[in-house]
Amino acid sequence: MKDIKNRGLVFNGKPTPVPYFTFAVTGVCNYKCSYCCIGAENHGFEGEEISLDEMLEIAGLFYERGVKVFRITGGEPTIWKPLEDLIKGIHAIAPDTQVNLNSNASLPRKLLPIIERNAERFTLRVSVDRMTPAPDTPKVWTSRLQETLQEARKFVPVRLNMVVMRSNMHELPQLMDLCNENDFDLKLLDLYYNRDFFGEDGKTMVDINQFWWQQFVPILDTLSSVMEEKGFEFMNQYDHGNFGIPLPIFTNGKIYISVKDSTRGTHFHDACKGCSEYRCQEGLYSPMLSSTGTLHVGECRFKPYMTEMRGLSMEDKAKGVDKMLTLFKETKLSQSKLSEILEAYRAEAAVQQGLAPETHSPFNRSYKAEHL
Ligand SMILES: C[S@@+](CC[C@H](N)C(=O)[O-])C[C@H]1O[C@@H](n2cnc3c(N)ncnc32)[C@H](O)[C@@H]1O
Ligand code: SF4
Ligand code: SF4
Repeated sequence: MKDIKNRGLVFNGKPTPVPYFTFAVTGVCNYKCSYCCIGAENHGFEGEEISLDEMLEIAGLFYERGVKVFRITGGEPTIWKPLEDLIKGIHAIAPDTQVNLNSNASLPRKLLPIIERNAERFTLRVSVDRMTPAPDTPKVWTSRLQETLQEARKFVPVRLNMVVMRSNMHELPQLMDLCNENDFDLKLLDLYYNRDFFGEDGKTMVDINQFWWQQFVPILDTLSSVMEEKGFEFMNQYDHGNFGIPLPIFTNGKIYISVKDSTRGTHFHDACKGCSEYRCQEGLYSPMLSSTGTLHVGECRFKPYMTEMRGLSMEDKAKGVDKMLTLFKETKLSQSKLSEILEAYRAEAAVQQGLAPETHSPFNRSYKAEHL
């Protein structure tokens, strides 16, 4: 059995309220996945880019406060020129820092040499949504991708990320087999409610409600039979402390599957009550630095939680980091509105149709998501 502690899944034991810190290094991407939007995780931030030196100063401040794992995302990070310098810089902070890189792995000639040269304390997370070509995502399993990932696996642990939607959930069993054969872990993500979506035609501002309600799947409700069929057992509930949505982890003794299902609740701070999106789907999830130097919380765009770090003195940067960590320390796990909406919907549908709630899909008719 592999040691799960070395796989970036477990909180590192230090008394810090967050298991990792995220850099969204660019909003640029060469793909347009239907569920993503312009800027992706760097969405909504414009202006001059923060320098690499300042990024590493901020990483150092998080390290001093017990955070050892640094996630790099985008857009597509392999498009961003200083990527390798950032990785090397994080590794140079201390001998126990770790880098987790999210990528679509579409640029193997850029990606693979970086992995080979920086393999120690590095994991790769690659998004794959489809086994067969389809209009809703370019992230399809191909022989070229397989070669890239098998090459990467010679040097670093590889995990696949799949956004589970109505359109691709039937391909999940095949993807699980493939992960097992290739020794890749798997993370299943439910669809989060973006401010806009590219949609299948690759253009922004499709009907957000319609797209989300048509495609959203409460993963844990639908997963148990597949897990059993494929020989995966529930291992533990990985609760990151004060951080995001708790993740149940399943294993077959060889690989791990973690499941991010936002219907099970997430973390909020009391100050969230002043936000127009309270209680949003993701909650307080990952302190993150945008490419323009805004320190903020994951998908959250609540201004009082943000600090503009670019150009600040070290002392003021440290204050920004402390403010962020205090915020996370004070969060509480509670249900999101989504949980209530789905519960109410299931109960009503079950009564109307004489079905047990857990056997009923909430997607048989349209439902307004304005309350989210
Ligand atoms: C924004 S991407 C950036 C890194 C890289 N381009 C990639 O696709 O892996 C990071 C992760 O966010 C996921 N993601 C993007 N939009 C999402 C959404 N609306 N709901 C759930 N996951 C989403 C992607 O599938 C991917 O696994
Ligand atoms: S999810 Fe798709 S569109 Fe969004 S950044 Fe990743 S590869 Fe690009
Ligand atoms: S968007 Fe931010 S402030 Fe608003 S509820 Fe979500 S986590 Fe809290």
